[in-house]
Amino acid sequence: MSHIFEFSYHNPTQIHFGPNSFASLGELIPRDAKVLLLYGGGSIKRNGIYDQVCNALAGREVSEFGGVEANPTLETLSAAVDQVKRQKINFILGVGGGSVADGAKFIACAALYAGDGWDIVSGKHVATEALPVGIVLTLPATGSESNAGAVVTRKATQEKRVFFVPPARPRFAILNPDVMASLPDRQLENGVVDAFVHVCEQYLTYPVGALVQDGYAEAVMKALKTLADTFDQRQQTTWRQNLMWAANQALCGIIGVGVPVDWATHRMAVELTALYGIDHGRTLSIIQPWLLRELIEAKRAKLEQMGRNVFGLVQPSAEETIAAIETFYRSLGMPVHLSEAGITEPDAATRVMQALRAHGNAALGGHAELDEAKTERIIGAACAG
Ligand code: NZQ
Ligand code: ZN
Repeated sequence: MSHIFEFSYHNPTQIHFGPNSFASLGELIPRDAKVLLLYGGGSIKRNGIYDQVCNALAGREVSEFGGVEANPTLETLSAAVDQVKRQKINFILGVGGGSVADGAKFIACAALYAGDGWDIVSGKHVATEALPVGIVLTLPATGSESNAGAVVTRKATQEKRVFFVPPARPRFAILNPDVMASLPDRQLENGVVDAFVHVCEQYLTYPVGALVQDGYAEAVMKALKTLADTFDQRQQTTWRQNLMWAANQALCGIIGVGVPVDWATHRMAVELTALYGIDHGRTLSIIQPWLLRELIEAKRAKLEQMGRNVFGLVQPSAEETIAAIETFYRSLGMPVHLSEAGITEPDAATRVMQALRAHGNAALGGHAELDEAKTERIIGAACAG
């Protein structure tokens, strides 16, 4: 039976890309807006981005909230929500990576909600309205700058949850590859791998004859593989602009339209950040190879296709493609075992399984029929060694 594509696609985020894109900020934010300038731990003050953004905003009423942490917490963001409500702010400008972008989306919704902000994250409250959001991206990785997703952690309960807030999808995103000059290698490595896994989650299922979606997914993955192979050129404009665009395209929604998707790697990996604070990109490289090995039969045909079209292997087996993926991660120095991320506690697998069960992620089902026994084997392998 043929697979039917059925989807609505609308991505209204206006993207301004290039070395002069900061200049458009002045036209993108209404003159009379009361702006919250939201940022992270201070990198923007050290690398000059803060000054450039402030110059572009000249003449507007701007209030600041800094200190959004990597993997933003409800606890921190709630203080920003109070500030927005108190100061009657009506535009949220996030300047940062995925954490700040996600924080901006949460704040934009929570500012118009009288209840507990966690309701928006947990899905108890479905946000139908949000303050307008704009993003100046400083770290290409998540695609958050032009999608409707966000991830927030509640520190008190060690819960990290993904939620979707279409009204808070950024109105615009400024993608200036020059901002990458100050990024530590570690964040560039995370960015390549996060974007790669985003494409995998929308591609590595089973063939449905989606020529455009498959072709585009393979093009983005090949680009990311090339960026890993040319990592020594990371200070060059060509390298930077390719990563910035690839990471955006990987999760702006276009690749996954109408095709089966499987977000199991992400759904499991969040627990490693929630429990151990491991960078998001690194949690993915720890989980994904083991997940693919466990679910190899359900994904065999697509793995073989990926081996040919992304890694250029001749008549590859699915096993060889998984080995190529792992080699690719290792070439970037990414961990593929929990211990390589510095976590050596003996009962780690048990703790991760407990968290997955508590959050309803221990038996995700899907096309590969992921049940608790399979999940346990994946987590066991990722936590061993
Ligand atoms: O906080 P500052 O001081 O700015 O430093 C940040 C942070 O320490 C630093 N950084 C960012 N831009 C920089 C820079 N340092 C120097 N120069 C620059 N230009 O990098 C560190 C990490 O930043 P962060 O925003 O946390 O990284 P990333 O963009 O990887 O975002 C990770 C978060 O996004 C979520 C993750 O779960 C995680 O919470 N995700 C969001 C998604 C979405 N909304 O669609 C999808 C993803 O799968 C992901 O789950
Ligand atoms: Zn991700």
